[in-house]
Amino acid sequence: MKSIVPIHTRSWKKLEQHFHDIKHLHLVNLFENDTNRFKNFSFIFKKNLLLDFSKNRITHQTIKLLLNLVQEMNLSNEIQSMFSGKHINITENRPVLHVALRNRSNTPIFVNGLDIMIEVNLILKKMKEFSNKVIQGIWKGYSGKNITHVVNVGIGGSHLGPKMVVEALKPYHNHLKVSFVSNIDSTELFNVLKTCDYETTIFLISSKTFSTEETITNFKTLKNNFLKQCGDQNSIQQHFFAITVNESEAINLGIPKDNIFKLWDWVGGRYSVWSAMGLSVVLVIGFKNFCKFLQGAYDMDIHFKNEPFEKNLPIFLALIGVWYNNFFNSETEAILPYDQYLKYFPSYVQQSNMESNGKNIDRNGNLVSWNTGPIIWGEVGTNGQHSFYQLIHQGTRLIPCDFITSIISHNPLEQHHKILLSNFFAQTHALAFGEYFYNKNRFLSKSNFINKDMDFLKKFKFFKGNQPSNTLLFKKMNPYSLGILISLYEHKVFTQGVIFNVFSFDQWGVELGKNISNNILKKLLYNDCNLCYESSTQGLIDFYNFHNQ
Ligand code: F6P
Repeated sequence: MKSIVPIHTRSWKKLEQHFHDIKHLHLVNLFENDTNRFKNFSFIFKKNLLLDFSKNRITHQTIKLLLNLVQEMNLSNEIQSMFSGKHINITENRPVLHVALRNRSNTPIFVNGLDIMIEVNLILKKMKEFSNKVIQGIWKGYSGKNITHVVNVGIGGSHLGPKMVVEALKPYHNHLKVSFVSNIDSTELFNVLKTCDYETTIFLISSKTFSTEETITNFKTLKNNFLKQCGDQNSIQQHFFAITVNESEAINLGIPKDNIFKLWDWVGGRYSVWSAMGLSVVLVIGFKNFCKFLQGAYDMDIHFKNEPFEKNLPIFLALIGVWYNNFFNSETEAILPYDQYLKYFPSYVQQSNMESNGKNIDRNGNLVSWNTGPIIWGEVGTNGQHSFYQLIHQGTRLIPCDFITSIISHNPLEQHHKILLSNFFAQTHALAFGEYFYNKNRFLSKSNFINKDMDFLKKFKFFKGNQPSNTLLFKKMNPYSLGILISLYEHKVFTQGVIFNVFSFDQWGVELGKNISNNILKKLLYNDCNLCYESSTQGLIDFYNFHNQ
């Protein structure tokens, strides 16, 4: 795995010069100069997804230079290394093989000389058999009743992925109800417990490490409550399951061995929804649909691995992101799904991107002097339009946006979907072109597109445009499409990690807070006076202790 300082590459320097040359170019001009711009700057993937990246502040030359950059950053070898199981998670000395979890071709993938596809398929089989039993009512609760409710207990990657996918695929749900508990804040568990009938509920304790404080605390509370009601330790067998790498700890904490769905250390938490971490998904959409989900991701994997860079969707999304993040110095990216079922997609991408590339040390161990991962945020359309779009349209910042929707609605009602799509198309148009189409003369009359002679009020009503966006238009959001979508973003993050020259598959940045909170807990529980903090933290703790007497 090479460590290349991106800003020292020839392409980076050329891109800086190029940025200087075109930074004021308006999307209006780019479209006027190329009547085929849409055709030239869009891709269709498997007749299922249209990616339109024409409304970006890029030219053919920008693309050429960005493609040179990824060549110089050795992306081909990096992709090869990931797919072939090399230990690219250097700081944890592990391969990164979530792609093996959706390897539908079953070609062997070796880790330490062993074909991991054998175990992957065994766990898939276990998921299939178990989910069939629950769905068909063969698996019973302790009092002999059918299972009707599944509760996933996990946090971070062991929560956001399953929760997002379960919500996104709601139209494919069977009769089972699924709930999620992630937060240590007992309010969440309390509220879910109110909806649980222990006789008919199963609990999936989802933790790769089986040591995460939130998950283990929630599990223990749940187990105590469960035992209080049913009073029989043996009933745990019918109701509690673990999804983990750490089988011994799961057994230690009372999960029966047969109820453990194994995970491997080469699956990163935020890339784990394809594994048994997705058990809640399998239970609620059935194994057949889960396989379609895996197939979508697999098709995108093959595309990412084999398609030339100049036709490669994840690579284009990554390069466009780098163009804004590192040359325009935009700080954020907005993810804007126009699909109610994708309401958790922005927070899912937030973890996937920010935990992966939110790093300040490069692969040489040096402090970086370039921007790494952007701040990811977003909201479903059209709700966002009535809250923060104002700032995107008329604020002072450049905010690249990804607009995501589907042509076919799962719940067509009168003209709703057409209205939704008209908003979807209108926003990218308005952001890109501002008022141009409606008032060409005024628009082009003065530099910076603001005419000093404009009436006072008109200045406030003016839209300058030139706000970039990508449009992802799916035929229909089904398990296959969702697999494509997630895999697309995963590989975008991978490619950007290569360009930023950071290690994308660790997350050391979350450790410090965990350690400090463990120490503070001692202070809250036992008022351990040996531990003292600076005046602010100490003052807060003292205030708490005083009022909690
Ligand atoms: O918060 C950091 C993190 O390690 C995430 O990367 C991970 O997804 C989450 O905690 C949960 O970890 P685990 O699955 O081991 O409980």
